[in-house]
Amino acid sequence: MKGIILAGGKGTRLYPATLSISKQLLPVFDKPMIYYPLTTLMLGGIREVLVISTPRDLPMFRELLGSGEDFGISIDYAEQPEPNGLAEAFIIGERFIDGGPAALILGDNIYYGAGLGEKCRAGVRSAQGGGACIFAYQVEDPERYGVVTFDPATGTATSIEEKPAAPRSNWAVTGLYYYDEQVSEIARTLKPSPRGELEITDLNMAYLERGALTIERLGRGFAWLDTGTHESLQDAGAFIRTIEHRTGIKIACPEEVALDLGYIDASLVRQRARGLGRTGYADYLDRLASSVA
Ligand code: G1P
Repeated sequence: MKGIILAGGKGTRLYPATLSISKQLLPVFDKPMIYYPLTTLMLGGIREVLVISTPRDLPMFRELLGSGEDFGISIDYAEQPEPNGLAEAFIIGERFIDGGPAALILGDNIYYGAGLGEKCRAGVRSAQGGGACIFAYQVEDPERYGVVTFDPATGTATSIEEKPAAPRSNWAVTGLYYYDEQVSEIARTLKPSPRGELEITDLNMAYLERGALTIERLGRGFAWLDTGTHESLQDAGAFIRTIEHRTGIKIACPEEVALDLGYIDASLVRQRARGLGRTGYADYLDRLASSVA
């Protein structure tokens, strides 16, 4: 399956920090924000990735990630000139997807938890079998997200509402979505919402109405972190720092994921380390390379 990372938008809630740079390039503790969604896609086994961003920011993503060969994957790039909504990713990416199933992850979404890779692979398998697979997570402030309600008897989803003023549950739809090969065709049928965007919630509703939407709940063992405000960005950095310092293991290190999956070998990891100066990240890569050599 192919995967799209949507890293567009103006990041207005983070002004002035994002006046001249994409939010998804800002650091979350020790690495650029986009490393987190990139590794989440990779954990699901996705090796062909399309990064969509604004014409202004796209060159910087290209400089950061290149062709993807450092991570044993291929990365393409496409522009989203205007913030026309998340579902537009499947129209912009239609040629890239090339009639197959596709995943989408938002460039500012951070996932962490034991078994995350298995959840992602299950999402891939589910969409490859037909339909869509998305994830829900309990939050304190559901009105900021797409909100899903479940039938208490059967546990199946009954509705999804985008940023409802009076949420009917506290289950937020997270920014990781797996769709079957019909996704671009369905995205083309969507009409802009009152805020003028092709809403991902409308795409998910289309699958729900066809009886083809699977919603996996991410329970207590998972962290789904937001980076939309200065506070939540700082919180996410603190969370990553805490876990990394305690364990000595990095979260969302694409070289490590690629090494684990057998996409790259130790010599490439060592070469990467040499390009990253005298940093903790470079030391980490050196240790990784030595542990498998
Ligand atoms: C978007 C989606 C929303 C989803 C959220 C996850 O919101 O529209 O349904 O819950 O991402 O991060 P936005 O980023 O447009 O506020």
